[in-house]
Amino acid sequence: MELSDKYLFEHKGFSFVRDLVTAEYIEALEDFEIRDSDVFLVTYPKSGTIWTQQILSLIYHEGHRDGTENIDLIDRVPWLEYNINHMDYVNRASPRLFATHLPYYLVPKGLRSGRTKVIYVARNPKDVCVSLYYFSKFSVKLEEIEDFNSFMERFLAGKLVASSWLDHIEGWSAHRDDFNILFLTYEEMKKDLKSAILKICNFLGKRLTDKVVDAIVDKASMANMRVDRRTNYKQMSPELLDFSKGSFLRKGIIGDWKNLMTVAQSERFDCVFKERMEKLPFKFCWDNKDDL
Ligand code: A3P
Repeated sequence: MELSDKYLFEHKGFSFVRDLVTAEYIEALEDFEIRDSDVFLVTYPKSGTIWTQQILSLIYHEGHRDGTENIDLIDRVPWLEYNINHMDYVNRASPRLFATHLPYYLVPKGLRSGRTKVIYVARNPKDVCVSLYYFSKFSVKLEEIEDFNSFMERFLAGKLVASSWLDHIEGWSAHRDDFNILFLTYEEMKKDLKSAILKICNFLGKRLTDKVVDAIVDKASMANMRVDRRTNYKQMSPELLDFSKGSFLRKGIIGDWKNLMTVAQSERFDCVFKERMEKLPFKFCWDNKDDL
């Protein structure tokens, strides 16, 4: 199965959106200077990135909590490899918050100092696959694959943006000792957001009052993020996203895969993923029956 080269290109075994970055830029990131106070949010796409971007920005900035800072989420916690708004990352004030989908072996070397904090958010891959399927319709920069079965086969083969879900999580997990890293799952955030936020605060060494934590829980809810134009990504250029075809904050539930995958597709998914997934030190929740 070939990578769709109109939309994506591969660099060192990882696929990137062609129109948004170059191999030279990715190569240069290796030497991007890291500060101890930086925080990196790492995800495979559709695993709860913007949700955690919002949480991090709320933890660090009162102005986002009380709404006095009028800064879009993408500029609060910009993408390292996709510098869409051409920000000056080098001269940004500390603490710099970044999001990235990069695999462990392509991130800036300085991250291996063990001082800079890295948060990896994982989500059950069936929901990731379904979310990415809908996102591909909505994103102008990704190929739309109408037939879900064909899309799923591409996902299982790792022939989509960000390559293989399994490679991504296995790589970060196997190299966890090289980084100062906290692993979280989308599902644990869904089930108990306050506890997940406290876990993040604890990892970051941030002591916030109960009232502030409650305010973060509230501001990071799906309902509030959806209506806030700073956090719903509706400010993004129509050259990137076609809002007639979807939205970044789509359903936000555990187990939406059950609404799209047939039993046969789910079994096929298990067959390809099960063995390697069983070796991962994560417990995924697949069902929406415990959903909040
Ligand atoms: P769905 O498409 O399943 O709804 P990413 O930010 O990594 O691209 O992930 C997007 C997914 O996270 C989407 O999943 C989106 O709805 C979900 N999401 C975003 N904000 C959320 C929130 N506040 N609560 C729960 N899910 C959220």
